[in-house]
Amino acid sequence: MSALLDLRETSALRASDCAPLPRPRRIVMADPAAFDVAYAINPHMLAESGELERVDRTRAREQWSALRSEFEQAGLEVHVLEALPAQPDLVFCANQVLPIPREASVTGRALALASNMRWPQRRGEVGHVARGVRELGYDVRRIDRLAPLEGMGDGLWHPGRALLWAGVGPRSSLDAWRSVARWTSAQIAPLELVDPDFYHLDTALALLDERTCLWLPDALSPASRRRIERAIPRRIEADAREGREQLAANAFCPDGRNVWIQRGCERTNERLRAAGYLVREVDTGEFLKSGGSVFCMKLCLW
Ligand code: ARG
Repeated sequence: MSALLDLRETSALRASDCAPLPRPRRIVMADPAAFDVAYAINPHMLAESGELERVDRTRAREQWSALRSEFEQAGLEVHVLEALPAQPDLVFCANQVLPIPREASVTGRALALASNMRWPQRRGEVGHVARGVRELGYDVRRIDRLAPLEGMGDGLWHPGRALLWAGVGPRSSLDAWRSVARWTSAQIAPLELVDPDFYHLDTALALLDERTCLWLPDALSPASRRRIERAIPRRIEADAREGREQLAANAFCPDGRNVWIQRGCERTNERLRAAGYLVREVDTGEFLKSGGSVFCMKLCLW
C-alpha cells in the first residue's frame, strides 16, 4: 500500500527520491465515430452564446486520424477501441480507467482501476474501456468506494518514477485516492484544482520528463503549487490564455524530447523550444470544443 500525502501537507517531496518506474510504451485510442458535444459537463462545451458547441464530424475524424499517425510514426504501439453509439465522450479514453503498472502494483500484476465517472452521461464508457485493457493484459479492479475518480484525467504518472500526481477537484476526490492507495506501492501526491476551466489535472499539468513539467500554476491551490515547486526542479509555465483556450497544458511527451501539443500555442511553444523540446503541433480543434486535447485523447499503458 502506498503513502498518500495529505492534501495540504508541507513536507518536501522530491520526484527523484521515488522508486524508478519504466515509461509506458503502448497507447490506447478510441474511434471518434460517435464523438459529439451532446451535453455540457465542463465549461468548454458551451459556446459564448450559451448553446452547446457544434462539432464538425468530418474534421474531427481527420484530426483524430492525424494524431493517431503521429503516435504511430513516433514508434508508439497504438491500439484502437471501437466507438459506442451512445457515448460521444468515449474518444477521451484517458478517463475511464487508471492503469497501475506491474512494478507499482500491490498484486504484482498490471492493474486498471475502473473509474467512477462524476457525470452519469459518461458512466457507460467504463466497461468498454475496461474490457479493452483487459485484453491487453491488465487486471481490472474497482475501488472500494463510490467516490468520483476519472482515471488518467486526474492521475498523472511521473515519468520514470513511482509517483502518481492525483488531481482533487470537480472529477476526482481525495476519498477515491485513499482507495487507490490500497492498490499501489507508488507515492500518491494530491494536487488541488481551483479553477473550473481546469477540471482535470491533465488540463493544468503535463509531466515532460523526470525533471520537467509544463504547467499552469494558477489552476492549483497555493499549497499544491508549492508541492510542485519543491518536487520538480524545472517548470515551464504555459501561457495563461493558451492554457485556457487551447488547453496548452494537455500536451503529451512520451520520450522526454517530443512534445505533442495543440497547434498555435505560440508562446508556450517558444518556451518549450527554449528548454530544448521538439514541439509537434497537431490540430485537435474539434475536441477542444468538448474540453479535451492531445493528452486525454489516449490512454498510456506499459
Ligand atoms: N467532454 C469530456 C468531459 O467533460 C472531456 C474530457 C477530457 N478529458 C480530460 N482528461 N481532460 O468529461
